[in-house]
Amino acid sequence: MQNFTIYGNPVIHSKSPQMHNAGFRHIHLEANYQKTLIEDGKDLKQNFIQNNIQGANITVPHKEVAFKDADQIMGLAKEIGAVNTYINEDGKVIAYNTDAPGFMKAIEEFGKIKKVIILGAGGTAKAIAVALKEAGIKTTVLNRSKNRLEFFRDLDCDVFSWDDFICEDYDLVVNSTSAGLKDDSYPTSVEMLEDILNDSTYAMDCIYGKMTPFLEKAKENRLTFKDGEDMLLYQGVLAFELFTGVKADKDLVESMRQGLKEA
Ligand SMILES: NC(=O)c1ccc[n+]([C@@H]2O[C@H](COP(=O)([O-])OP(=O)(O)OC[C@H]3O[C@@H](n4cnc5c(N)ncnc54)[C@H](OP(=O)(O)O)[C@@H]3O)[C@@H](O)[C@H]2O)c1
Repeated sequence: MQNFTIYGNPVIHSKSPQMHNAGFRHIHLEANYQKTLIEDGKDLKQNFIQNNIQGANITVPHKEVAFKDADQIMGLAKEIGAVNTYINEDGKVIAYNTDAPGFMKAIEEFGKIKKVIILGAGGTAKAIAVALKEAGIKTTVLNRSKNRLEFFRDLDCDVFSWDDFICEDYDLVVNSTSAGLKDDSYPTSVEMLEDILNDSTYAMDCIYGKMTPFLEKAKENRLTFKDGEDMLLYQGVLAFELFTGVKADKDLVESMRQGLKEA
């Protein structure tokens, strides 16, 4: 039996176990994916090695410490400075970030995107911005406060806080703030949001499973929109491929999506 887990704090609400366990059942792999609450991120690597975990996902707030403690960092994670996936290779911890390619996969259905504005400048925004810049897409970041913008300036994004924002036209507007997650707030002022959505075509919220005020406004402005379910699904699918070495086909992806929807 191979063991997998997700580390976070809190982790109780994570849907990753039901998504991955559905995938394991689909490929008939004897494996179990569970949740592990880790309070101090410094304990994560030791827990992973000592319990002989084959692979793990890492969620808030441990993605940065997991990056620092890994033995080897792969791909875009080097630029992002955060990882969400650990693989155990004979006791060596190999770390990846699948949030970034998961996001790119989630926006594929929008077709050719040339210009994106990201609302928010937290950990998720970093992964998204690195992925967009890597794909040669012009990226603007708008955040409530100024203090998180340096990372994005260094990445050669256009950066604004609410105080100095100059609106342009965008193909895609992404809400990566937590506004709307547990409240009914907008990620910017209503006027600013109306301005941004006015000439944009697509909208995506990283929050999943609910029609946020941001998505309501996108709908009102006749944008094509989606929530964060596909982003969550595809970061999971990409991690699953790393865990198992199995390339996910359509049926496997669908079984993981169904797993995600289990009550
Ligand atoms: N679908 C997925 O797979 C997926 C994956 C990861 C995260 N998410 C979602 O993405 C969101 C962000 O996560 P994160 O890890 O990047 O969080 P984070 O690092 O804590 O960053 C939060 C960001 O939201 C901004 N913010 C918070 N409340 C706000 C408000 N009321 N109005 C405007 N801005 C506000 C913060 O601005 P300041 O800098 O001014 O504080 C900051 O830029 C969460 O809702 C999370 O659930 C989804």
